[in-house]
Amino acid sequence: MIIGSKILFFDTLSSTNTKAAMLIRDEEPPEGTVVYADFQTSGKGQTGSTWESEKGKNILISIILYPESLAPEDQFIISMTIALAIADLIDKYSPGCRIKWPNDIILNDKKIAGILIENSISGSVIKSSVAGIGLNVNQADFPENLPNPGSLKLITGVVFDIEVLLKELLSALDKRYKTMLYGDREIIRQEYVSKLYRLNELCRYGSAGSVFEGRITNISNEGLLIIETPEGRLMTFAFKEIDYLS
Ligand code: BTN
Repeated sequence: MIIGSKILFFDTLSSTNTKAAMLIRDEEPPEGTVVYADFQTSGKGQTGSTWESEKGKNILISIILYPESLAPEDQFIISMTIALAIADLIDKYSPGCRIKWPNDIILNDKKIAGILIENSISGSVIKSSVAGIGLNVNQADFPENLPNPGSLKLITGVVFDIEVLLKELLSALDKRYKTMLYGDREIIRQEYVSKLYRLNELCRYGSAGSVFEGRITNISNEGLLIIETPEGRLMTFAFKEIDYLS
């Protein structure tokens, strides 16, 4: 086992990602070490946002990785690997989990998990990667300012044992990560694409002040989103260059 070989539990942290980065700097823990907390005072989300989570209700972890065999230009495979592992777990309890590019985990149109990957790149090598995961498990009430939150409990009606679920998540992550390291990365890419939220559906999007219709068809090698317009034009977007409209 790589992921979960060592688990460091903390009652409260500012952010498990921040703690993991400090540990890498100070003592280089073994690959797969998991920093796990019941509560974060400054949980970090994508693009400088915050991640809110009620104490003891959800899974808040960061995994320390050293994917040195991976070229920096291929780093999106880490996101795909982590997202697929979360989807593997969710699908066991409630099938139909989708991945909203780049890495929101969606179940029944609600966001139930978010991923924040922070890589440290030196020259042509990814020296370390911190893969932070916030999975909403038993939380039933969310702050009103959150766009579209959900949890496993709200969707399935079941109260989960967090420790059991965490073990299952780590095992799913370990399996997918080993495929990323030693197996066929193209399979990861294809499975990720097959699980994309809105894949091949004609939907509305907004970008650079204009609204258009198109279908998500693929992900580029660099991890950019590819949308095909009804006229057959292929458009490519980086994160934050596109809004999903209803
Ligand atoms: C997102 O905005 O969707 C990403 C959210 C990532 C949240 C997790 S919670 C555990 C880890 N520690 C953090 O500070 N953030 C990530």
